[in-house]
Amino acid sequence: MDKGLKVVTIGGGSSYTPELVEGFIKRYHELPIKELWLVDIEAGKEKLEIVGELAKRMVKKAGVPIDVHITLDRRQALKNADFVTTQMRVGLLDARIKDERIPLEMGMIGQETNGAGGLFKGLRTIPILLEITEEMQELCPDAWLINFTNPAGMVTEALLRYSAHKKVIGVCNVPFNMHLSISKMLDVEMERVYIEFAGLNHMLFGLHVYLDDQDVTEKVLEMLGDPTIQLSMKNIAPLPWNQQFLKALGAVPCPYHRYYYKTKDILDEELEAFKNGKTRAEVVKKLEEELFELYKDPTLTIKPPQLEQRGGAYYSDAACNVISSIYNDKKDVQVLNVQNKGAIQQIDYLSAVEVNCIVTKNGPIPITVGELPVHLQGLVQQIKSFERLGAEAAVTGSYEKALLALTINPLIPSDEMAERVLQSLLEAHEPYLPAFFNQSKEHVKQN
Ligand code: G6P
Repeated sequence: MDKGLKVVTIGGGSSYTPELVEGFIKRYHELPIKELWLVDIEAGKEKLEIVGELAKRMVKKAGVPIDVHITLDRRQALKNADFVTTQMRVGLLDARIKDERIPLEMGMIGQETNGAGGLFKGLRTIPILLEITEEMQELCPDAWLINFTNPAGMVTEALLRYSAHKKVIGVCNVPFNMHLSISKMLDVEMERVYIEFAGLNHMLFGLHVYLDDQDVTEKVLEMLGDPTIQLSMKNIAPLPWNQQFLKALGAVPCPYHRYYYKTKDILDEELEAFKNGKTRAEVVKKLEEELFELYKDPTLTIKPPQLEQRGGAYYSDAACNVISSIYNDKKDVQVLNVQNKGAIQQIDYLSAVEVNCIVTKNGPIPITVGELPVHLQGLVQQIKSFERLGAEAAVTGSYEKALLALTINPLIPSDEMAERVLQSLLEAHEPYLPAFFNQSKEHVKQN
């Protein structure tokens, strides 16, 4: 890497980019990036230019010699890259609005990373990411792909199974947020808290929480059962947990578990938002417009605090930490989406899991968890089957696999509703689903 580190961010025009740039600036002393390439597509050109200019002002103000390049030419950017990060939204926010509103209109959860919306975000995204990894094989075969694009679990599953490029890591801000919130709750520094994390993306459990040499899991669960203490994220209603349930569960659920353990409550919240035109995607669309107005200001030279209103706050810590640990061979522990390789016994060896890993210069090595307790196993396996079927459907364009993925998903109430929502979402997203539409329209229009 003597040529100087080259990092490429695909989806560089994202409103989140200033957070990533801030992360690189903060770590410049240990991660001396020479070139940062922000890449986007024609439809994202305007945003890319606004964010790119802000990124240039940020590095200038910080006094770090990172050259920020802005381009629509992905191949040029990928050439000889060391790390590639992906954070795109195929179909932009309007597609997310459909992913949320169409299922809600039929009375089921509408969310961008799980249920029907999550499946469709995966179906649109996976083929593009496979294209990117193919280009990486040719243009930067030694580079690591660090993906934050949702649904990160299904996407990592697809890349690990169907891409020839195996240097792939999925990252998410949920584990970092859980670690931070639990440390704050205990009123101690994060370094003193170690959480044994295991599960899948957005289906992550803290199996044990240690404070120094003490197992404080029970204490943490008790604190979490207090309705005034809420461990959540900006994009999820902070509905309180049932105290007895938490105690019985014996593991810390992640904020997204509310979709599965409190389905009715969260659906009621979502339906209310749906009625008022305030689904999360609609709220985010407005927030983004405000953010881009701020980003345009030529006197702005830092990440504006308003960005913390987004659910993805702190994702750059997760992303930059893994890049720095690979680069510096830190051998520290981070929670990542990687190939299971037996870390969780009940999950297929080749599947993606989210677990603590030791991060070395050769990549992350998952730490073995063994068997999950019986009461956690079922849901994790069911969602893993959903992800596998979703990944397969994305690659093959199989209507049947997509239907199966939906019908077995616990957030879809029935086989009939699965097919209805499948057909509506297929129609809504047709331009972004060539694998489904180029083969035969027969199934799609059959009812
Ligand atoms: C959470 C998730 C991310 C997701 C984000 C959405 O933090 O972990 O995977 O992208 O929320 O936030 P938004 O502000 O777009 O609703």
